[in-house]
Amino acid sequence: MAANGAPAVTAEEVEELRKQLETLQASLRKKEAELELVAPYSRSYGRSLVASVLESESQGLSLVGKTIRVGGWVKTGREAGAGAFAFLEVNDGSCFQNIQIMVTKEVAEEVGGLKSLTPTSTCVLIEGVLAQTPPGTKQKVELKATKVVHVGTTDAAEYPLAKKKQSFEFLREKAHLRPRTNTIGAVARIRNALAYATHRFFQERGFLYVHTPIVTASDCEGAGEMFQVTTLLSKIDEEPEEQPPTAEELEALRAQVAAQGAAVKEAKAAASADKEDKEAAKKSKAEVAELLKLKAQLEKAEEAARNAGGIPRTAEGRVDYSKDFFSKPAYLTVSGQLNGEYYACALSNIYTFGPTFRAENSHTARHLAEFWMIEPEMAFCDLQDDMQCAEDYVRYCCRYILDNCRPDLEFINSMIDKTAIARLEQVADSSFKRVSYTEAIEILEGVVKSGKKKFEFPVSWGIDLQSEHERYLTEEVFQQPIIVYNYPKEIKAFYMRLNDDGKTVAAMDVLVPKVGELVGGSQREDRLDVLTKRITDAGMPLEAYTGYLDLRKYGSVPHSGFGLGFERLILFATGLDNIREVIPFPRWPGNAAY
Ligand code: 4AD
Ligand code: MG
Repeated sequence: MAANGAPAVTAEEVEELRKQLETLQASLRKKEAELELVAPYSRSYGRSLVASVLESESQGLSLVGKTIRVGGWVKTGREAGAGAFAFLEVNDGSCFQNIQIMVTKEVAEEVGGLKSLTPTSTCVLIEGVLAQTPPGTKQKVELKATKVVHVGTTDAAEYPLAKKKQSFEFLREKAHLRPRTNTIGAVARIRNALAYATHRFFQERGFLYVHTPIVTASDCEGAGEMFQVTTLLSKIDEEPEEQPPTAEELEALRAQVAAQGAAVKEAKAAASADKEDKEAAKKSKAEVAELLKLKAQLEKAEEAARNAGGIPRTAEGRVDYSKDFFSKPAYLTVSGQLNGEYYACALSNIYTFGPTFRAENSHTARHLAEFWMIEPEMAFCDLQDDMQCAEDYVRYCCRYILDNCRPDLEFINSMIDKTAIARLEQVADSSFKRVSYTEAIEILEGVVKSGKKKFEFPVSWGIDLQSEHERYLTEEVFQQPIIVYNYPKEIKAFYMRLNDDGKTVAAMDVLVPKVGELVGGSQREDRLDVLTKRITDAGMPLEAYTGYLDLRKYGSVPHSGFGLGFERLILFATGLDNIREVIPFPRWPGNAAY
């Protein structure tokens, strides 16, 4: 009984209700789709989504006999019956499954015959009657075409992805066509589901979605891996309106100024010798005016000489950012954290979900130059709660795609990584192991000493854990996701809260099999004096962090947060080997195509 006499609500009850609600919602969505077959915003073409047929509760059986239109791109097409008809496997992206369409020669006649429909990647919109397939067929229904409404033909001889199996490297070069492949299509749907799950997870828990800026003047991670944003370079190759003065011209101008200076001196002396001489006074004034004119000319010429080459420079010869677009150096953000903290320190729990940029010259399969990050920030939250939030969020995402992306995951499981589904199930169902950095180092030192494992990078307390160490811990030692916490302060960012031992900070990294580091987070340093010292010790200018320090001055609050690399989550979920496959248009050093 609660204090007011009402029966207390249990967490199990709430969880049970939530599950029931979700099941009902899913069933409602499917029934709605079945009732209202025409896809949203496709009324003029009257087309239905393949998903609303094949993923309906009856898998299309309840629609047998109905006339519908489906449109999409041919995955495979083959003629049969000695050219009397053709089978097209058509995919419209709404689900992994293709719908099979049977077209007779007669129906295809008007659009150039069966041969114009069968090449892979042909676009079709076909009207037909849904019919039951013979027992034992993979799908319960197929469409028997009565009319071909639209054809966008493809020349099979030229289509670059006509061959069944293409390497992922090759597909990256065709990033505009690769979403038509099974794998990249499945990844796109899984990515979408994980983004939706992310918003649901945080929204259900009352977090505010905050948009943090993409252009920023501060280096959050202090690692100096930022892309500069400037308009100073855009005119550099243009012909200047006026040619800058040559060294000789400058010298001549300087000599003129010096000579004029002497003339002024002389004229002034003459004028003060005879105060009554009006002519002399007039002359002196005129010489001064001439001197000022020459000096202004010289100054302009000197500036023009400094700016030669198109870049404005200060008198000291440095780039003059006061002339740049933002009047100071600006960069693409490496993290929305600092801005996130400002909002959390007013609105309590917030999260960001946006693109971040790192100019690290990394060619690994886990790094992108442009990637998406989810960064929650929570007031009145310590490292323990921070770790719990990260764990709950990752597990929620795994459960969400298991429940909502089954056909895509089954394809991934059969073609890409046989352990994908089992791994997601394990993560969704079991809590993460927590190990302090010190314990992690002891474990690694132990395996090195016993000869069980050799690492490229030597292990000792104080090192930054390398990918090989992280993956060994999570894949070999624990064989599950782990959270490593309390890292040496020297290897972590200035904003992490210093622990009482004075040696470590309240940092945590979530490490998962196949990927290594998935999440990096910490409790933030909320003590003004300690933070000030950390910034100065790191050799960073305090002025750049006045806002950040203000938070500790005016109503400081213990708070924590983390960043999860969205593409790493998709890598983990799909078991793909390279992060370049899980973002639609990957950017890495030397590559920014499309
Ligand atoms: O560990 P990081 O650098 O942490 C931060 O940026 C903090 N400001 C986050 C916070 O506390 N709000 O990056 C967070 C995560 C990493 O764990 C990793 O998953 C991902 O971002 N990440 C990358 N993903 C792809 N390509 C890269 N180059 C990445 N760098 C980091
Ligand atoms: Mg990190």
